[in-house]
Amino acid sequence: MEKNLLILAGDGIGPEVMDQVVRVIDWFNNNKKLNFTIEEDLVGGVAYDSHGQPLSDKTLEKAKNCDAVLLGAVGGPKYDGLDFSLKPERGLLRLRKELDLFANLRPAQCFDALTHFSSLRPEIISGLDIMIVREATSGIYFGEPRGIIEDNNGGRIGINTNRYTTEEIRRVTRSAFELARKRQNRVCSMEKANVMESGVLWREEVTLLHQQEYPDVELSHMYADAGAMELVRLPKQFDVIVTDNLFGDLLSDCAAMLTGSLGMLPSATLGKIRENGRPYAMYEPVHGSAPDIAGKGMANPTACILSFAMALRYSFDLGDEALLLERAIEKVLAKGIRTADLMQEKDVKPASTEEMGTAIINHLDGHQ
Ligand code: NAD
Ligand code: IPM
Ligand code: MN
Repeated sequence: MEKNLLILAGDGIGPEVMDQVVRVIDWFNNNKKLNFTIEEDLVGGVAYDSHGQPLSDKTLEKAKNCDAVLLGAVGGPKYDGLDFSLKPERGLLRLRKELDLFANLRPAQCFDALTHFSSLRPEIISGLDIMIVREATSGIYFGEPRGIIEDNNGGRIGINTNRYTTEEIRRVTRSAFELARKRQNRVCSMEKANVMESGVLWREEVTLLHQQEYPDVELSHMYADAGAMELVRLPKQFDVIVTDNLFGDLLSDCAAMLTGSLGMLPSATLGKIRENGRPYAMYEPVHGSAPDIAGKGMANPTACILSFAMALRYSFDLGDEALLLERAIEKVLAKGIRTADLMQEKDVKPASTEEMGTAIINHLDGHQ
């Protein structure tokens, strides 16, 4: 079967880290005969610069028709003043919404070589392997009413609405239970049922689905604020966390730092399975466009490369190849080859983005 990838490198460090992913894809094409075809297009600020929209209809069509989208990052200070509908971030949100990519899988694994790098004590994070399943097509990111309106006193009111339907909660929770069955069989659901009706419904629907379809999986519930605290107090207590769009955004950045750097955390955003057995899918690092380091060749490409490993696994059923790539990254880190975000010693020269990519490819070369 053909394997068509649409690469949307985007803004800031997006193109820099994506260049390394393209080298890795070329390696798999040349050495494992995987026959990936690549098309590239624009998203985010660069798309706005070129045709006045952060995601054109044409690009959206390509995204719907390819097997998997690989996205770099979007956004940057240059676009901060734009109307909301034109901001780079809307390009990404539109892709998630229109492809109906409801399950955003954000795995936080701590590589052995980095246990001493995290801001938490090594024993707290060594061997860490958790999966955050974040709902990605609904909630406060998309709920109506929304906007900024005038009040009667010359002031203004900003409004967003956290809205979830039964079906939206059930389908993302089902993804979490399915993943848990292949892992340690535990799911912790996080919301704020103590203050929000959407949280009450979330807890009720998760509980019901558990009783109806997944009684074999161990289920617990936590208020999301306590969950954030537990995530840094004792992260290894978790296996799979399922949560809504906004809480998932916050909790996954927090989980990223357990692994040492935001530059380490990949993600897969998955929708319905198509007739050919492949899901609608987009693979994107958790980090953003990092304007503070963009253009300097110092960004860590690992999150983006690990996102491609997730594509191998979740879109193309190539688990062995995914493992090969993940192991290569692990070995490179173990050798002490790191980008600046993973350096403590001031006197050691960090690897550049490209040097990190080269080290990973050299390792693949040696272990075909
Ligand atoms: P950010 O993730 O871009 O950066 C946060 C910090 O982490 C910065 O200090 C940055 O240098 C560092 N960092 C991030 N990725 C790194 C990497 N690969 N290697 C080394 N260091 C890395 O978040 P931000 O600064 O809050 O946002 C910047 C822009 O990115 C905003 O416009 C925001 O909306 C956007 N953003 C986009 C995405 C996405 O495209 N998926 C995700 C988050 C933020
Ligand atoms: C993420 C990002 C996005 C989000 C932004 C850029 C729209 O922060 O993927 O975590 O909030 O979902
Ligand atoms: Mn985020």
